[in-house]
Amino acid sequence: MNPEQASTTPLPLDWVRAQFPALATDWILMDNAGGSVPLGSVIDRVSHYMARWPVQLGASYAPSAEAGKLLEDARESLAAMMVGADGARPAADELVVGSSTSSLVSRLARAIAPDLAPGDEIIVTDVDHEANITPWRRLAALGVKLRTWHLNLESRRLEIDDLRPLLNERSRLLCFTHASNLLGEATPVKDITALAHKHDARVCVDGVAYAPHRPLAVRDWDVDFYVFSMYKVYGPHCAVMFTRSDRLAELNNINHQFMDGMEGPGKLEPGGFPYELLYGAAGVPDYLAELGQRLDGGADDAQPWRAIADQEAALSSRLLDYLHSREDVEIVGSAGNLSSRLPTISFTVTGQRSSAIPPLCEPARIGIRWGHFYAPRLVERLGLTDRDGVVRISMVHYNTIDEVHTLIRSLDAGLDGLRG
Ligand SMILES: Cc1ncc(COP(=O)(O)O)c(C=O)c1O
Repeated sequence: MNPEQASTTPLPLDWVRAQFPALATDWILMDNAGGSVPLGSVIDRVSHYMARWPVQLGASYAPSAEAGKLLEDARESLAAMMVGADGARPAADELVVGSSTSSLVSRLARAIAPDLAPGDEIIVTDVDHEANITPWRRLAALGVKLRTWHLNLESRRLEIDDLRPLLNERSRLLCFTHASNLLGEATPVKDITALAHKHDARVCVDGVAYAPHRPLAVRDWDVDFYVFSMYKVYGPHCAVMFTRSDRLAELNNINHQFMDGMEGPGKLEPGGFPYELLYGAAGVPDYLAELGQRLDGGADDAQPWRAIADQEAALSSRLLDYLHSREDVEIVGSAGNLSSRLPTISFTVTGQRSSAIPPLCEPARIGIRWGHFYAPRLVERLGLTDRDGVVRISMVHYNTIDEVHTLIRSLDAGLDGLRG
């Protein structure tokens, strides 16, 4: 599957938008990297599960067994969604389900901690959301040495050449983002992972900002741990962590003590997982499959993603052209190649705090946002802390060119007004 091949059929946008009940509003929602709106089918599935299957799992009575089977099927269908070019995909029991990415990374750190020795090294970035930094930095209390892979200030990317000198025989783990939730550009996850593995280090990849836009070919990338949040991928408020089976087998159990020795994702799911949310989340692969049917009869798993990438490229390209055209606007991050750039676009305005900009668009009922987006180290590195961070416009495939035009008109009038 190659989502970067040209798509032939455009997205059926009217149908797409009709699948998301929350889009029936007069607000233009461009804060999607904070959270996308959920599919109607996801809402229906959550509600159906809660109404129909309010039982505990693991008992011998039929409804308990049936509910267990439905949830196994849901996990299976999320695993099937994470399919790569040659059809390779994770097994359902390689997916750990939890309430959020922050919670899953913390659990992973807790499960790894007993195996770390003083002097072992963990590499984190200063580009990531704090979810993939704080849990690792806290391990310094065990004598673990933390190294930082810094944003390259020239390219405004994470550069592999800056990573090389950080890896050595004490490196146990490299924690990095697949795409920054501010900079919007994807990192070459497969190459980075191959380099880490050469040094026998594992990788923990934050896929949160990438997952709403491109297929998650975790097997092709050969990652050890890959985490993303379903509430940013059109689903309910839960998260999924792909954990390669051999790595999962090595991890310590953080569930109840009497479960020590258990196999599978349960060892990282203390107290279980959110049943109705996992069941609801399976509405997302169903949506992609239906989109595929409408595009090409559903023969090609990659086709919906290609059409999504095309729509996103059209939105980004229009907005980037406009932002480039204004002398008082500086785009934060690389302008990027549109195939590796996601439609998450941040900028600053000369002489203005970023907090002054989103309110300019609110009278036109446009929701955009300013701040550090829980990546305060990145904002610090960029020297933007005192400017209230960046203004971020984050779009997904259900946004339209008309919406971008409305945003541009509103921003243009607002920015001209600020210049007086
Ligand atoms: C890139 C990135 N990583 C991690 C997270 C944390 O996700 P969660 O809210 O599921 O903990 C976010 C949330 O905004 C994010 O944007």
